Amino acid sequence: MLRSVVLDMLSEFLMVEQGGFQLYRTALARCSTPELKARYTEFLEETARHRELLMGVIRQLGGDPSYVSPTARLAQFKTSKLLEAALVVDGLSQAEVELSDLENVLLAETKDHADWSLLQRLLEQTGQSGADRADQVDPDTLQAALRPAVAEVEPEEDQHLEWARDMQAQLALRLATLGPAPSPERWQSRISTPDVPIESVNPRPIRQGLLEHAGDPQWQPSEIVRATAAPTPP
Ligand SMILES: [Fe+2]
Ligand SMILES: [Fe+2]
Repeated sequence: MLRSVVLDMLSEFLMVEQGGFQLYRTALARCSTPELKARYTEFLEETARHRELLMGVIRQLGGDPSYVSPTARLAQFKTSKLLEAALVVDGLSQAEVELSDLENVLLAETKDHADWSLLQRLLEQTGQSGADRADQVDPDTLQAALRPAVAEVEPEEDQHLEWARDMQAQLALRLATLGPAPSPERWQSRISTPDVPIESVNPRPIRQGLLEHAGDPQWQPSEIVRATAAPTPP
């Protein structure tokens, strides 16, 4: 295993845990459903523990947990967009806000779960060496660092993802069958004034029928490919 790549990945996974922690905190702060509150509190604590464990693994491999790899920065950006989305809830009922927060958790947990599944597979394949001999992690060190962390976290990640997926479906079904139905004027009261009719703020997706067909036949290179192609010699 390439040490530099593994450390960059671990930095990214640490950032994903950090993002999950922030999303749980956001969801918990405005949630009024006891069932959600209890789980958010439990999973928030577990996520904080995962963060600690990843920092420990990074240290054991000789890395610095405060280093932020390029892929970690991207992970941070993605979480920031989910956190931003959590603020754009004007016009949503309390039930819809809670559903939206849970959806953010589900998206974050999907990635979190994938990260730990990958660490599990990485653990199974330690010892396989790549091309760059100078940049190899010692297999025993990697095993010793990863094995206890994966054994503890992997089952919890299964539970986080499964719960978020099931709960999201349950709450959506509950809302669809039992309500409460949101007020029909909710958009009007939030964003519409006499000068700004609702249609101009929230237009129908397709106003004038379907999109037009492409002008070029599909077997011909597209216009942009033709424009960027090297000119043919005379
Ligand atoms: Fe986690
Ligand atoms: Fe998780």
